[in-house]
Amino acid sequence: MIFVNSPDSWGRMLNRMEKIDLILKREEKLSEIFIGFGLIQFLVDDLKERPLGNRLGIITDTRVENLVGYRLHQQLTRAGIRADVIVIKPGEASKRWETVSRVFGELFEKGFDRKSGLIALGGGVVGDVTGFVASLYMRSIPCAQVPTTLLAQVDSSLGGKNGIDLSHGKNLLGTIYQPRRVYVDPSILESLSEDEFRNGLAEVVKSAVVRSRELFQLLEDCHDAISERQPKVLEEMVSRCCRIKSHVVMADENDTGFRRILNFGHTVGHAVEAYTNYRVPHGVAVSIGMAVETILSTRMGALSHEDNKRIINLLRRYDLPTRIPRGYDTEKILGLMVSDKKAEDGRIAIVLPTTIGDAVVRKAVPDESIREAFREVQA
Ligand code: GLY
Repeated sequence: MIFVNSPDSWGRMLNRMEKIDLILKREEKLSEIFIGFGLIQFLVDDLKERPLGNRLGIITDTRVENLVGYRLHQQLTRAGIRADVIVIKPGEASKRWETVSRVFGELFEKGFDRKSGLIALGGGVVGDVTGFVASLYMRSIPCAQVPTTLLAQVDSSLGGKNGIDLSHGKNLLGTIYQPRRVYVDPSILESLSEDEFRNGLAEVVKSAVVRSRELFQLLEDCHDAISERQPKVLEEMVSRCCRIKSHVVMADENDTGFRRILNFGHTVGHAVEAYTNYRVPHGVAVSIGMAVETILSTRMGALSHEDNKRIINLLRRYDLPTRIPRGYDTEKILGLMVSDKKAEDGRIAIVLPTTIGDAVVRKAVPDESIREAFREVQA
């Protein structure tokens, strides 16, 4: 449409033109999440009964392929489900454009079409790459998540956030695209390394602090059983986290406000990861972040000393760090916090716990308050 006379005000223009509101009907059910100890044995039965697509692409990494990927592929083939395995390298370095571009190419060359489906079999990186690819390939194809790490089971496989990194920072490209199904089997966690398990526990503590006093209590009361990965308590813990995450995502799928409470520990945590060039694992960085943000919250008068002590003690009991290692340049970490995508107009937004089980997002926290909290947690 070409306007010969430019309108003198938007209001007057509105009276002259036609307006159509394109109202999108929201899907009633975004994702089905199944949680059960040993459910992986029934995965193929479910996929046979309720196909995800005319054929399946199992995206996994070299580590998981050896453990479960190969077996799953065999089982699917035996059940008459056409499936291909696409393998990526393990680790954060795979969360980049080169990886997704290669996966797009492989899918196309293998003949995957709009009726095909993808399965993410792995941890957070595999989940992100698969979700990202599924959301864009042929304008989107269905995908299911089969998380194999604690971190992915309690957080990253649920809620549809798919991010890849740019050299400028983490998760700077991404989509929000819900997996049709998430199959969470805590029995897979039995073979997880101690470090990987601890990495996920940081996200469990996070969920408890921001949303559930009961989960926090469970973590306090059942420390030994959780550390020994006893099946019953593991299932209970994972299931509580999945419920918390689902409620938060249902309330704010697009991450416009409420969902940001799940970033507790992450504003500082992401900066610590970037500062160390991602040599510090995500959970360890988030744990340091939770300690700083907890102290900040108490300093700002939002959290009692008693709850502060409980949070810090719980992190320590699970062998999660609560101090910034000696020699870290906290001014640089502060600078990275400003450039993080969670900052808005250069102002740092931080999640502050207000009690055990609740938190608020505080925008524009003064740098000086953050510096003081840093000083308190420096080793
Ligand atoms: N991992 C935080 C979120 O999904 O919002």
